[in-house]
Amino acid sequence: MAERFTNQTVIVTGAAHGFGQAIAHAFAWEGAAVWACDLNAQGLGETARLAHHDGLTIQTRSVDVSDGAAVSAFVAEVVAATNRIDVLVNNAGGVLGQVGRPLEEISPLDWRSIFAVNVDGAFFFAQAVAQQMKAQQSGRIINISSGAGLGISLTGIQAYASAKAAQIGLTRQLAHELGAWGITVNNVAPGFVRSNPTTERQWQSYGEEGQRKLLDGIALKRLGTPEDIAAAVLFFASEQARWITGQILSVDGGK
Ligand SMILES: NC(=O)c1ccc[n+]([C@@H]2O[C@H](COP(=O)([O-])OP(=O)(O)OC[C@H]3O[C@@H](n4cnc5c(N)ncnc54)[C@H](O)[C@@H]3O)[C@@H](O)[C@H]2O)c1
Repeated sequence: MAERFTNQTVIVTGAAHGFGQAIAHAFAWEGAAVWACDLNAQGLGETARLAHHDGLTIQTRSVDVSDGAAVSAFVAEVVAATNRIDVLVNNAGGVLGQVGRPLEEISPLDWRSIFAVNVDGAFFFAQAVAQQMKAQQSGRIINISSGAGLGISLTGIQAYASAKAAQIGLTRQLAHELGAWGITVNNVAPGFVRSNPTTERQWQSYGEEGQRKLLDGIALKRLGTPEDIAAAVLFFASEQARWITGQILSVDGGK
């Protein structure tokens, strides 16, 4: 196994579960010092346990990514411990248990809470790591959006499609702002993956016919896995991606 990230410090948000857990594990497997955060303390315990099982260590902390002060305190702790931040993966996000409903039924809180985790979180974290990455004259920021941010959301949730599109805009803008310091900012836009209770419910709701239709529409004729998403994230973080920034990579089996 080539350890592409030895001596590197990597922060992964939303790492208690699903993609974040797979991304944190993949970086640790390739030699990085991984700092994983999430709201879900129990899930973080599982992330740490899985790593330990493979002889790896992942530091875990409970952090609400939509709380700017908590984000700053966490990043300060990482810098104090390791003196660097090489990679930030803004993965925390999702639909927060919401389901698609008609526009007229959406409360301001429904709308705002999805933006808070998917957009504010990525913004606060990028802001918090910028000083350290600028001082290093290097850094990789990878945001996880969604096919929903490039087209429409299968969930029908207006805030989700809008927030992921906003996060893609943030990616492009920060790539230009931070490029002069050797910092790249890229985005992975996953397709549908059965990685959490929401997507599992969604998959079951399609029925056999709908599931077959969804698979037929994918060029590679299978659903993705969290490991498929992690592979793309590690590419953007790797030395091989050194002259790539402001890009959105669809990882969806081909549409
Ligand atoms: N699964 C899919 O089909 C799919 C497709 C496209 C994009 N995505 C995106 O990929 C990312 C990961 O999704 P997943 O499928 O692994 O979902 P997931 O629900 O398994 O993981 C999301 C994690 O984010 C955490 N989180 C939520 N709010 C938070 C907050 N305020 N602070 C800290 N952590 C918080 C959750 O506790 C959870 O562990 C999300 O941004 C999601 O929108 C998922």
